[in-house]
Amino acid sequence: MRPIRIALTKGRLEKQSVELFEKAGIDCSEIHNKGRRLILPLGNGMEAVLAKAADVITYVENGVCDIGITGKDTIMELGTSIFEILDLGFGRCKFAVATAGGKDIFSELGTKTIATKYPNVTRRFFEKQTMDVNVIKIEGSVELAPLLGLSDAIVDIVETGTTLKENGLQVIRDVAPISARMICNIASLKLRQQEIEEFTQALEKALTQQ
Ligand code: PRP
Repeated sequence: MRPIRIALTKGRLEKQSVELFEKAGIDCSEIHNKGRRLILPLGNGMEAVLAKAADVITYVENGVCDIGITGKDTIMELGTSIFEILDLGFGRCKFAVATAGGKDIFSELGTKTIATKYPNVTRRFFEKQTMDVNVIKIEGSVELAPLLGLSDAIVDIVETGTTLKENGLQVIRDVAPISARMICNIASLKLRQQEIEEFTQALEKALTQQ
């Protein structure tokens, strides 16, 4: 049987994931010395894979990785057939609706245009508000869209609020809180139950020590 494989989101969440794993007693020395390698042996006979957030979902959904660590934002947008096991508490931020100068689009009539990197989250949110909107997908720096006149508002991730502030935008509505989550492949949960439970318990214990 292959080692339990954990897909880690590269970048912001990677460092905190490794810190948590080490607190849980898992040797991550190969990750510290990874160079350009993408698959790395971990302690306890496990294996780490470094991937972009959306790909973490893809690898876990398809069962080539058993476990994944990624943000609730990506799970809400793309994660339909994975099992969410733990809220890891780091990577805290939120999804919010923001407009130039804090203009209240909720009290206005007419179809609004919303720019976002997260079209599924955005459509679901405005459906709940029974508001008809046009959603335009943007790949990054979504804050540009209302400034250039492409959209009336954005749905985006807000962490410190600095990006919004420095571009004259303001949050007018919170959509959902976000943090890093441990996810699991549904079949792995049954087939590798004991190993996954042991890993989950080790992380849970490490989280209570923080
Ligand atoms: C995210 C998000 C905001 C920014 C928010 O962008 O889309 O632009 O962080 O952070 P703040 O509230 O602390 O300013 P990211 O850096 O991931 O890059 P992107 O714009 O390419 O999505």
